[in-house]
Amino acid sequence: MKVQALPSVEGNFNLKNYEEAAESFDWSTVEQQFTWSETGKLNLAYEAIDRHVSGDRANKVALYYSDANRDEQYTFEDMKKYSNKAGNILRDAGVKKGDRVFIFMPRSPELYFAVLGAIKIGAIVGPLFEAFMEGAVRDRLEDSDAKVLVTTPALLERVPVGDLPNLESVFIIDESYEENGPYLNFLTRLNGANEDLDIEWVDREDGLILHYTSGSTGKPKGVLHVHNAMLQHYQTAKWVLDLQEDDIYWCTADPGWVTGTSYGIFGPWLVGATNVIRGGRFSPQDWYETLERYKVTVWYSAPTAFRMLMSAGDEVLKKYDLSSLRHLLSVGEPLNPEVVRWGMKVFDLRIHDTWWMTETGAQIICNYPCMEIRPGSMGKPIPGVKAAIIDDQGNELPPNRMGNLAIQKGWPSMMRTVWNNEEKYKSYFEIEGWYVSGDSAYMDEDGYFWFQGRIDDVIMTAGERVGPFEVESKLVEHPAVAEAGVIGKPDPVRGEIIKAFIALRDGYEVSDELQEDIRNFVKKGLAAHAAPREIEFRDKLPKTRSGKIMRRVLKAWELDLPTGDLSTMED
Ligand code: WTA
Repeated sequence: MKVQALPSVEGNFNLKNYEEAAESFDWSTVEQQFTWSETGKLNLAYEAIDRHVSGDRANKVALYYSDANRDEQYTFEDMKKYSNKAGNILRDAGVKKGDRVFIFMPRSPELYFAVLGAIKIGAIVGPLFEAFMEGAVRDRLEDSDAKVLVTTPALLERVPVGDLPNLESVFIIDESYEENGPYLNFLTRLNGANEDLDIEWVDREDGLILHYTSGSTGKPKGVLHVHNAMLQHYQTAKWVLDLQEDDIYWCTADPGWVTGTSYGIFGPWLVGATNVIRGGRFSPQDWYETLERYKVTVWYSAPTAFRMLMSAGDEVLKKYDLSSLRHLLSVGEPLNPEVVRWGMKVFDLRIHDTWWMTETGAQIICNYPCMEIRPGSMGKPIPGVKAAIIDDQGNELPPNRMGNLAIQKGWPSMMRTVWNNEEKYKSYFEIEGWYVSGDSAYMDEDGYFWFQGRIDDVIMTAGERVGPFEVESKLVEHPAVAEAGVIGKPDPVRGEIIKAFIALRDGYEVSDELQEDIRNFVKKGLAAHAAPREIEFRDKLPKTRSGKIMRRVLKAWELDLPTGDLSTMED
């Protein structure tokens, strides 16, 4: 079915004319809105919270938080107070500028106090997704030399504290927790802490946040972002999220992933919006209830979530009053035209696709309210950033030719390094002047970008990025597994699912129990979302002469495609 373009909509938007802005926009105009353009010293958490308290938003609700047990709201003044307190208790534990403070817990108000407090004292925050198991937690704390961790009693079991000599203190979120040695009680200390804090004024290039993310080879890598990224968080919160004074905004992403920080914390609060945070797991009823209850106006979610809502049926949706919604956005995977059509039907609104990555720190290619949408297209680069399709030599390709999706180096929220791995960082910039994303795409005659796929083997399952190498490494730790190769298999709801091909060691027999045991082994060792949903046993896996598993061949087997050049394959 041919998809009709959806016309721009009428309204009073933060971005009124895309073409005009794309032509004339200059990032220095964003900086001039903040006093740090004069002093040169800044702190993102101050700009996101305290600035609004000194202005006229002190009593405006900054955070509506709810989950199965809690139902709370905090004004910007409250957020200032609690983040100051958190900053003080972290500082008392010896945290200094540049130290890594990791936050490993499910969503809760304390998570947000801790993140903001750590940033206020100049620390680099490392958020960890709550589903990570011991192996994944260890890799990240070790690689980053984390000094302090904030976590809950339940998650503490997955932290190998004894093996981490540089981890000096662990804050536990539990009122009745008895302190001993390095284990400190976050809540009692927070209660007793001073409400005033000496903010650490930092340089724009000082470290802000370390997000670990997966590539196709090697362990997860720590992508470092700096305070300067706020320019782009702020400006895209206006242009793309289109946040305005009275908006109630809900971003469904967890802060363990970049969307949950850049657009669950930084963007919305930098522009002084009211932010809804909902804890707990996904269910269609719960999500619709959240939209209705808070009268959410701007909603940022992901294709997998929209597809799950779609498959729950429109009958469920009809029970709720969702008329407050005015602007919908999506990120993380290709947004199918079918989902856009569903959005038009049930919300009478266009879903705006946005493309970006952990490494880009903020949105790059987007659809804007003031612009026509071509369903299936990611949209156009934000003003002030140039994106292009280039070949492997760095030549820009003409319209409608598929190639590497690349961004001209130097946008404000660009990652500044890969922690402990400058070589990896440089590998993104091997083509002079360009950041090469690892995605392939083409651009049409009118400048719209269309996603085609990943060039490497990175898997996007339910919007979460999983490196096949990490899963394979865990699989071969299982006593029955001799060899393992992991691919993303297309799936109508999750985008892709993880499928593992496994060759067993001698003496092991294929069985349902063994399959289940292997799956649980990855669940417990890495994370539930990294466990293969499908496992296929083979006597032997295709390998190169140097012993590398050929995922390309596994994928061809799976999809019934030609296997291509096999000259490097062992006999
Ligand atoms: C994919 C998430 C298609 C892409 C913010 C990218 C997308 C990877 C889109 C980054 C989109 C993100 N359409 N694919 N609109 N947005 N992706 O680092 O392959 O978790 O390289 O960042 O997700 O995933 P990451």
